[in-house]
Amino acid sequence: MIQKNKIIITNKNAKKVIKFETEQKKFFYQDFFYIKKGVFLPRFESEQLLDITISYIKTLFPKKINILEVGCGSGVIAINLALTNPLWKVDGVDISLKALNLSKKNLNLHPLLKVNFKKSDLFQNITKKYHVIIANLPYVENTFPIKPQILKWDPVCALFAGVDGLKLLDKLLQQINKYIYKKYLIALEIGYKQKEGMIKLIKKHLPKSHFIFKKDYAQKIRFVFIYFL
Ligand SMILES: C[S@@+](CC[C@H](N)C(=O)[O-])C[C@H]1O[C@@H](n2cnc3c(N)ncnc32)[C@H](O)[C@@H]1O
Repeated sequence: MIQKNKIIITNKNAKKVIKFETEQKKFFYQDFFYIKKGVFLPRFESEQLLDITISYIKTLFPKKINILEVGCGSGVIAINLALTNPLWKVDGVDISLKALNLSKKNLNLHPLLKVNFKKSDLFQNITKKYHVIIANLPYVENTFPIKPQILKWDPVCALFAGVDGLKLLDKLLQQINKYIYKKYLIALEIGYKQKEGMIKLIKKHLPKSHFIFKKDYAQKIRFVFIYFL
């Protein structure tokens, strides 16, 4: 849903092209947020990732916890988590400065809210431990024919992740041990064909953990929750 701003739909080359204006907002989960060309446009599926994660946190963890979002983009997931419970200490990192600037702009919509956004290549600039780590990192195969209109908005660094799309999720799980408490939840969005690949990565990097895959509303497996409690 777009607030205030115009959406222009043209029929150029018999294809539907949606042109966005520069300053506009999109509703995500429980509020409106600024979106900007060059920063990943939040998707409906990620609201489900957030929703399931919030219900797990509420039932499985104490009230005060540390949460990290890796690859925060426009900040919509991290900010919604902080909005859900002010006792949750939420940090967000991204490799893209453009994304971080938008995250901070979105945080400014909530002057009383605290979320610490900073630049980091995965955990490179992280020094803390977390109870919950949530990520919707790039998971598209390099050769996947992404529609040109998507590439006009979303940056390449938000989409592609190697030949099988698992390059970043592999790195994330490889490095994650140093940054999680003994009891943890890792909530990840994945591609609908990546279940088997993810099982291999989980068994390789977090052999003692438990995990559960969840489907999106289209009945495709799109999320994995890895935990040790
Ligand atoms: C699919 S987008 C998701 C953005 C946001 N979480 C959302 O759901 O709208 C992936 C994000 O991961 C970031 N990213 C890619 N590689 C990264 C890395 N190595 N370390 C941290 N962030 C990274 C991208 O810049 C992008 O903002």
